[in-house]
Amino acid sequence: PRPILLTRHGESEYNVRGRIGGDSALSEAGQLYKKKLAKFVEKRLKSERAASIWTSTLQRTILTAGRIVGFPKIQWRALDEINAGVCDGMTYEEIKRNMPEEYESRNKDKLRYRYPRGESYLDVIQRLEPVIIELERQRGPVVVISHQAVLRALYAYFTDRPLKEVPDIEMPLHTIIEINLGVTGVEEKRYKLMD
Ligand code: F6P
Repeated sequence: PRPILLTRHGESEYNVRGRIGGDSALSEAGQLYKKKLAKFVEKRLKSERAASIWTSTLQRTILTAGRIVGFPKIQWRALDEINAGVCDGMTYEEIKRNMPEEYESRNKDKLRYRYPRGESYLDVIQRLEPVIIELERQRGPVVVISHQAVLRALYAYFTDRPLKEVPDIEMPLHTIIEINLGVTGVEEKRYKLMD
């Protein structure tokens, strides 16, 4: 058994303000999650020698991993959040108001919609390929601390969800999804560390 633990970063300052993308730090709740996650990982992976912690290159994931000690940490650019291009830093309301056609096109086909000068879900799925290959090659457990869109794609891959469902998969904050790839299929457990 070689669990993969998926979690979003702790709540960020941008999450609080409803802004997408960016590279903000953690909110107070996010900082509490950082502590709870470290305790959880310490207990769950206690005697696991080959375990590792993977983050994106954005500070909200690196900060979230900050209290976890005793395991190597690896930063992957491929785990960075979907690039919202010209919409980076905006709220959904602002996009709707200032760029109604963009808003509409995304609503119509969230999977294929590519933000101007940014990415689509399909782009994200494609850039995750090397991460997936490496995840499958690992001998020990991996804790992946990443972002909403990226984790939807990873989760969908391991649980065999159809492509079209990927952009709408629920990926709550402050929750760990544990996936175990067994011979009989995938087993999944969820740990909600905070309300
Ligand atoms: O709001 C948090 C966030 O991670 C944004 O940075 C990102 O653009 C968004 O979620 C992705 O979710 P959706 O595809 O539903 O907009």
